[in-house]
Amino acid sequence: MWTSSRGPLPRDVGVVITAAGRGERIGGTTPKQFLLIAGVPLLLRAVRPFLSHPDVIQVIVVLPAGVAESPPEWLAALAGERLRLVPGGATRMDSAEAGLRALPPTCTTVLVHDGARPFPQPSVIDAVIRSARAGAGAIAALPVSDTLKEADPATDGGPARVLRTVPRTPLWRAQTPQGFPRPLLETAFADARSGGFVGTDESSLVERIGGSVALVPDVSSNFKITTAADLRLAEAMAAVEG
Ligand code: CTP
Ligand code: MG
Repeated sequence: MWTSSRGPLPRDVGVVITAAGRGERIGGTTPKQFLLIAGVPLLLRAVRPFLSHPDVIQVIVVLPAGVAESPPEWLAALAGERLRLVPGGATRMDSAEAGLRALPPTCTTVLVHDGARPFPQPSVIDAVIRSARAGAGAIAALPVSDTLKEADPATDGGPARVLRTVPRTPLWRAQTPQGFPRPLLETAFADARSGGFVGTDESSLVERIGGSVALVPDVSSNFKITTAADLRLAEAMAAVEG
């Protein structure tokens, strides 16, 4: 138990870092989570703010099968009681669930973060934890700022055409971390499995079962590395911010 001027703080948070993908869109032979950004592995940047957080009991890093058994040296050196490595599955959802199952029962609040997001903000992590502890889900998210067009798929080999402009006011882009009371997340996974539903984030599973999910305003620097251009942007950011 940690203490602060406001009294004892619970240590109840388990973190799942999903890093079992193959990085097909970025190409190359090294999975993107192991690429260096200004000399520091992408995955290490994603993990560090959680590993150093005083409320976090354990971090589970979910890795491609094979890599979990023989991780890079820097990751093997970090692995131990506080950080464990487990093999993931075919989809991000499978990997997140493998991570959730590996958390000890003392982790009653669970955060899931993409191993491909190198710059999670400590203040956003805190806000997600606060909201999840209060009994609801919470996701880091960004209000949409572009004008959105719905496309009419091309049928004649030409370019897709604009069907209409979609009002953006109620729209947010979901990022990570996403945090939940553990029982809510476990029920959501079980229900999705039995319903054959595959979601691309945890919130979508919780929404299906009617769970409440708060939007925690995030910053654009917490973007996901998907393409080679994203990696160059991350390099430039790290050069400025360290
Ligand atoms: N992920 C995972 N298990 C999978 C697929 C994805 O843990 N079976 C993780 C990725 O490692 C990444 C995050 O989920 O940290 C978001 O996925 P994405 O950006 O799509 O990464 P990849 O699947 O690796 O990339 P791509 O889709 O281009 O192959
Ligand atoms: Mg993917």
